[in-house]
Amino acid sequence: MIIAQISDTHIALDVPDADRRLSDLALTVADINQLDPLPDAIVHTGDIVHNGRQDEYARARSILAEARAPVYVLTGNRDNRANLREAFSGGGYLSRDSDFVQYAIDSYPVRLIALDTQSPGNKGEFCAERLSHLAGLVEAETAKPIAVFTHHPPFLVTEGPDPFHFESRQAMSLLRSALQRSDRVVAIFSGHVHRAASGDVAGIPASVMPAIATTMRYGQYPAHLQSSPVYQIHRFDPIWGFASETRIAGDPRL
Ligand SMILES: [Fe+2]
Repeated sequence: MIIAQISDTHIALDVPDADRRLSDLALTVADINQLDPLPDAIVHTGDIVHNGRQDEYARARSILAEARAPVYVLTGNRDNRANLREAFSGGGYLSRDSDFVQYAIDSYPVRLIALDTQSPGNKGEFCAERLSHLAGLVEAETAKPIAVFTHHPPFLVTEGPDPFHFESRQAMSLLRSALQRSDRVVAIFSGHVHRAASGDVAGIPASVMPAIATTMRYGQYPAHLQSSPVYQIHRFDPIWGFASETRIAGDPRL
């Protein structure tokens, strides 16, 4: 199974770099579309838009609609749950069994579980209600390995000004304990920090991918790559697990 992960596109219509954010996403989708083999799924780990507005979602959705693989979206701290649900309801996977944007996708050899770590602030939250919903998602199927997707990473990202990306240590601990309770969670993929990082949750490999919005990406990139979006491909092998690759969108040499 091949998953393309994209994140932090921050589509906005009234900022000086609005066109660049749109073209970063469009370039990324075009690059994924020409991969051979094509990914089985594309997961957007949140901050799809910058202000949660319907008109921003309309633009993001129209670009994502060009993708040849099914797209699954998460809510980030800049997203608006109601507007996100409205924009992406056509996919049929955003279940209504929780107020939170949490769901499982069961149609692949790896189950995909998308979590909602949104809080009223910038950092992540994970409450008892989301915890019990996650437990139900995990227990609904007991054979397949699980890849978990979150916007906020449930591990310390030591690069950057603040390594801690949850509102409270308790919230991050709740999420970490839930993830380690099942021995079927084999990988955790996140966004939010806008820079590449990796860590683990009690031995489960966990990673953060850079922001697709190149004007908002952190980390050192050579001059000729500063305007090229980078995204990640996660390939799953039933024996060897996940291996991830970072790709540069639009680079004719790759
Ligand atoms: Fe973001």
